[in-house]
Amino acid sequence: MTSQTLIEARKAEEIFEKQIDSGDRPAFHLSTRAGWMNDPNGFSFYKGEYHLFYQYYPYAPKWGPMHWGHAVSSDLLRWKYLPAALAPDKSYDKDGCFSGSAVVLPDGRHLLMYTGVSMEGDGWDKAAQTQCLAVGDGLEYEKYEGNPVLTDKDLPQGAFKQDFRDPRMIEMADGTYLCVVGSRPADGSGQILLYESRDGFHWNFKSVLCENRGRFGMMWECPDMFELDGKWMLLTSPQDMLPEGFEYHNGNGTLCLMGSFDQQSGKFTEETDQAIDYGIDFYATQTILAEDGRRIMIGWMQNWDTCDLHMEKRVWCGQMSLPRELSIRNGRLYQAPIRELAEHRRNGAFFEGAVEGIVKPEGFNGRLSEIDIEIDASDEDFSYQKFSVRFAQDERFHTQVSYRPQEGTLKIDRKFSGSRRAVIHQRRTKVKPVDGKLKLKIIQDRFSVEVFVNDGEKVMTAVLYTDTTADGVTFVSEGKTKVRAVKWDLVF
Ligand code: FRU
Repeated sequence: MTSQTLIEARKAEEIFEKQIDSGDRPAFHLSTRAGWMNDPNGFSFYKGEYHLFYQYYPYAPKWGPMHWGHAVSSDLLRWKYLPAALAPDKSYDKDGCFSGSAVVLPDGRHLLMYTGVSMEGDGWDKAAQTQCLAVGDGLEYEKYEGNPVLTDKDLPQGAFKQDFRDPRMIEMADGTYLCVVGSRPADGSGQILLYESRDGFHWNFKSVLCENRGRFGMMWECPDMFELDGKWMLLTSPQDMLPEGFEYHNGNGTLCLMGSFDQQSGKFTEETDQAIDYGIDFYATQTILAEDGRRIMIGWMQNWDTCDLHMEKRVWCGQMSLPRELSIRNGRLYQAPIRELAEHRRNGAFFEGAVEGIVKPEGFNGRLSEIDIEIDASDEDFSYQKFSVRFAQDERFHTQVSYRPQEGTLKIDRKFSGSRRAVIHQRRTKVKPVDGKLKLKIIQDRFSVEVFVNDGEKVMTAVLYTDTTADGVTFVSEGKTKVRAVKWDLVF
């Protein structure tokens, strides 16, 4: 039976979505159907399509009692909205259906696990977070009568019942399931708990998989664990991180631990750590193992601290990053835009030459585009101090990516993108040329940019809401820079 709360949410999304013109949305990044979107949820392949749910408040462009929005796609680039899937309509989730995951059961049903939030009195300090299930057919989902399936009784000693969330179910080769869940132990920092189940409905505590011990921020949100190129990866989004050198500048940021996992003991052994994204807006990742073996990751393309950017102009807030193919190279996590994007390239333009001062490469304009740039960085005593690419540009506005070879840094800067808010607008990261070249792939959708450095060794992601009429691209060099560049329009 569809609850009144869900019926109302479905009515609201149909009404509000009509207020958003298709040109006021991203073209190939999933954005909220109406109101507000945060984390991706339940990323899965079911009945021949990718399903992506998301944290959703359909009534206003701000966070509120969480629902699950729902969209499907066959190529992860063109999305079709389905009616909202979950609403906070039960006593155990009355204050929100928080993030979670999905698996396909052997009998063909789609199983969702999410965090039910229920406050006892006022304030999040008193909230209980429990893990709950819903079973469906890809369109309608029924909450399980045995909910909640994991409660504070399933927590190790000292763990906070108000910080127990974001279950990520994992299907194991032997047909059983594991689940990783974010938690906060008595020391106040984060940890990931591991649960196991034979059937997806009955779950038991197995172990504390991995502990933060005050190193990377506080509570660890949205965990995910998978095998990649012979290593085990544990991705999580820690809250309240402190910067360390050039790493972890995003407050609520992302963390990738690489190592090994022993299923017998339920322990993850870390070998290395790195941020997942080095831009401004990227959080709360989810991955999927595609049928062709690719591990594909998507994240919420937003930063909790900068949600007010351009709010005066928009009736919606929230978009997802580009789906990214993951691999390990040189002991690091590499990301590449999903290869399906290349099928949308049209109207190639080419530039090769020495840039000094300002150059407008011909045919490079556009707000839906992919620009590949190779900057010559072979010279020991560089004849240039700084090389920048400006885009989303008109007389007044632009966003830019700049490379300073002596410093070995790359900076993304959107302070002239038209924002009237004093929020974070820049981020820098360390970069190194490979074989004498620094390679950048700059992918622009209407309201975002994702910069892949050196074939995906690092990525810098940022949203920007400059009017789409600002579509200029220029190269700016202090000194002389040798550059080769190719640009395509991305046509949808
Ligand atoms: C991360 C997060 C999750 C939670 C959800 C609530 O962005 O805080 O931990 O489930 O958002 O909307």
